[in-house]
Amino acid sequence: MLITAVYPGSFDPVTNGHIDVIERSARTFDQVIVAVVRNASKSPMFSIDERMKLLTQVTSHLSNVKVDHFEGLLVSYVRACNAQVVIKGLRAISDFEYEFQMALMNRTLDSEVETLFMMTSNRYSYLSSSLVKEVARLGGPIDKLVPPLVVAEVQVKLLHAKH
Ligand code: PNS
Repeated sequence: MLITAVYPGSFDPVTNGHIDVIERSARTFDQVIVAVVRNASKSPMFSIDERMKLLTQVTSHLSNVKVDHFEGLLVSYVRACNAQVVIKGLRAISDFEYEFQMALMNRTLDSEVETLFMMTSNRYSYLSSSLVKEVARLGGPIDKLVPPLVVAEVQVKLLHAKH
């Protein structure tokens, strides 16, 4: 049986930590769908289309990875894709409680969808999209945190925000 995994998230923007999880998932599963959530309650730096475009570019070397977006319940989206697994990256103990809660809720909603946690690599355990944006806004370097393409796009956003 071919296993398709969905890796959901905001990806605002994609970081090296996300890419690490995507690359390792692509080696583990037959197909990986990176799914950008449409979340009305957040005010993102990048639109859904911009986030998808960045994700498509930074995963272009992975032939079994595709990028999509969804809104509504994650488990409904997973079903609609004929996927079996949800991948979540776990960075630190602080992630665990909320992720555990979401995994159990998703299992209650659909007991056939399995949530699998992938431990992040040590070097990315502190990394988050929010921190990347904060460091960039305060003038700090983000070139070790996100791919060069994303560094450039964040700088463009910040320039536009100033004018
Ligand atoms: O990158 P993020 O913002 O931590 O990703 C959060 C995400 C997309 C995984 C989460 O918000 C989600 O699963 N949204 C879908 C809504 C849903 O299914 N909610 C009920 C189950 S917890």
